[in-house]
Amino acid sequence: MSTARHILALLKSHLEGDDKEFLSVAMQAAAHEARLGHASVAQQLRDLIDEAKRRTAAAHTRGGQIIVLEPRGELASLLSVQTPRIRLNDMVLSTALAERLRRVLVEQRQQKKLREHALHPRRKLLFVGPPGSGKTMTASALAGELHLPLFTIMLEGLITKFMGETAAKLRLVFDALRQTQGIYLFDEFDALGAHRNQANDVGEIRRVLNSFLQFLEKDTSNSLIVAATNHPEMLDRALFRRFDDVIEYTLPDPELAKEILSRKLAPFETADLDWSRLLSEVNGLSQAELARASEEAAKQAVLGGSTVISSDALFMALQERKAASP
Ligand SMILES: Nc1ncnc2c1ncn2[C@@H]1O[C@H](COP(=O)(O)OP(=O)(O)O)[C@@H](O)[C@H]1O
Ligand SMILES: [Mg+2]
Repeated sequence: MSTARHILALLKSHLEGDDKEFLSVAMQAAAHEARLGHASVAQQLRDLIDEAKRRTAAAHTRGGQIIVLEPRGELASLLSVQTPRIRLNDMVLSTALAERLRRVLVEQRQQKKLREHALHPRRKLLFVGPPGSGKTMTASALAGELHLPLFTIMLEGLITKFMGETAAKLRLVFDALRQTQGIYLFDEFDALGAHRNQANDVGEIRRVLNSFLQFLEKDTSNSLIVAATNHPEMLDRALFRRFDDVIEYTLPDPELAKEILSRKLAPFETADLDWSRLLSEVNGLSQAELARASEEAAKQAVLGGSTVISSDALFMALQERKAASP
């Protein structure tokens, strides 16, 4: 190949977001230069290729800063990337749930030790629980703890009318997850099965779920795969078995509810709050609704020119959330 042809091929693979092809063409260009006797250019190319490979092998940290390659090409419509900074301690968790999540972190952090004994860290996780109970937030916190980028799979981009296409897109996602280490979140994952209710070919839908399961099963990457759902009843039992861990989320008990409210209101004066009255009102409210209610009460205080949260304001905010909740 001539140099111009190499450049053409490089640009083409760049536009398509095909890193593997890009590097393979660059290798050919290096070989080409070497054959022409251009030893120094060939060596420079090889060094740059090595550097590029090191960068794509894993999103890595430099000076505490996570370097992430934005998804390109078709992947850009399938994955969105974030670098969350929150930690598990930013969440209010029951002891049982905190332990389950800490175990994931411990195994991830000590995976080298595990792998030396042919053991594998848990990394295929299913989060199940009601809306607003902290599933999405947990994925962010795991990313924050492990200094990994959080890639959220955009299911609306993934699911097309044509199931064959969906399977091809799933393959792209699973390829990406091997190439760039991260947390890959299939949020509101039940949408993959939701088409079931529509006048859609049931056989086709099974195929999409099955191909997800096959990709999941075959995956041996270093990435964490998190699927989250509010509707466990919509998912196949067969699916549950393919995960290393199924982690259940529940609505908070009064003690945790109090903790969420007080943490959210920490910048304000809350000494006079009538907790027994307030906690009689939290039953059935999710973590998200409690967070919202405390924000409402805080806003009222601020707009009234005060830093004191009144029991009445918070009580009313809780009642309002309750009336709005399904
Ligand atoms: N365990 C928690 N501790 C503190 N805040 C929480 C917790 N769970 C949820 N929240 C609050 O509720 C919001 C929505 O939670 P989210 O993780 O999106 O719920 P889910 O994904 O389960 O529907 C969060 O952004 C946060 O403000
Ligand atoms: Mg969510």
